[in-house]
Amino acid sequence: MTTPDAVPLSGPRFQTEPARLYREMRRDHGAVVPVLLDGDIPAWLVLGYRELHQVTGDPVLFSRDSDLWNQWENIPADWPLLPMIGHKQPSILYTVGERHRQRAAMISNALEEADAFELRAHAERFADELIDALCSAGEADLVAQYAMLLPVRVLARLYGFPDEDGPGLVTALNDMIDGRERALAGQAHLAASMAQLLTDRRKEPAADVVSRMLADESGFSDEEIAQDLMVMMAAGHQPTADWIGNSLRLMLTDDRFAASLFGGRNSVAEAMNEVLWEDTPTQNVAGRWAARDTHLGGRRVKAGDLLLLGLQGANSDPQVRTDASALTGGNNAHFSFGHGEHRCPFPAQEIAEVIARTGIEVVLDRLPDIDLAVPAESLTRRPSPWLRGLSGLPVRFSPVPAR
Ligand code: HEM
Repeated sequence: MTTPDAVPLSGPRFQTEPARLYREMRRDHGAVVPVLLDGDIPAWLVLGYRELHQVTGDPVLFSRDSDLWNQWENIPADWPLLPMIGHKQPSILYTVGERHRQRAAMISNALEEADAFELRAHAERFADELIDALCSAGEADLVAQYAMLLPVRVLARLYGFPDEDGPGLVTALNDMIDGRERALAGQAHLAASMAQLLTDRRKEPAADVVSRMLADESGFSDEEIAQDLMVMMAAGHQPTADWIGNSLRLMLTDDRFAASLFGGRNSVAEAMNEVLWEDTPTQNVAGRWAARDTHLGGRRVKAGDLLLLGLQGANSDPQVRTDASALTGGNNAHFSFGHGEHRCPFPAQEIAEVIARTGIEVVLDRLPDIDLAVPAESLTRRPSPWLRGLSGLPVRFSPVPAR
């Protein structure tokens, strides 16, 4: 499938000006763009709203099963994107068909029973603790000292980890996501903590997500449940942290939101929704594999080709965004949580929303005169064509005592 004009899926423009980049790609290549991954591995980036709907809505033709890939013979054992492609990983992400439906139901049911009131109370408590640790300094980095520490703490509590495990899990998960020298040790710490939690809850179930997953009767092994718990932790934490960071950035840099810094609540929801449309935490997702030769957006796609889900590109497709009205009135027809059978489970979306909204509201309540400490143009994003989040969000405020 190698096409001569394929676009490398790398480079600084994914960081600095993705909206313009996707517009140019669409202009030059149409809704389905031939791209090259690390090592010149070919794939298709699906940027069209309609085409993405087609791909995510047909899990048989466009499968989650990476065994179908026609590039395996070209992939070295140390290919950097292997963890993302998830070959032979027995988690929900790469399970297909009826077994996937049972697995998604197990996770959704276990998450759905979480009490929204309690969730909000936990999120508030952990957010307050984080603010207590920084509020007397008068300045902080709201990414490193706040957004990256909050969701994992709340999720750990919700899933069933004892509170004293919380700080260790925060460090381990952030080390793993960071992908540097401490990544493997972080992953090992998480895996060991999860195995321990499963053993404890097998003996003595409690009112938590893990106990409910263990009580499911579809016959998933402890190893499978541990894998899913890892996905629920990693897939839950980073995008929620970036949702908080990207929304705070929007509120601190855009005049339309200035008033809300002094108490307007509706605009927190508006800023969060606008971020999902314009600056979404998961820009591109790998992926789906074509089960047979087919056509998509005017392209001939061969059996076994990899299709990447261009969520941010589809959100800004001019075919659906003919005017700015798409953003108002809580319109949530964006692709930021995916679509179809493999989308982010609905209860997970709701939990992410509660954690992010509470996190933002606590910042605005506790640090009412908060302002950016650097010019808006100097804020940078982490270099990645996949996730979109800030490398830092330096702010200043009048120092206040801890509670
Ligand atoms: C509590 C927080 C969250 C949890 C526990 C969670 C969990 C999950 C899980 C288990 C899946 C896999 C579903 C499957 O394969 O059937 C998933 C998929 C997904 N999640 Fe989330 N998630 C969370 C927050 C978020 C946030 C904040 C975003 C982005 C704004 C997001 C975006 C996605 C996307 C785009 C997919 C679909 C990937 C695809 O179609 O292949 N998630 N999530």
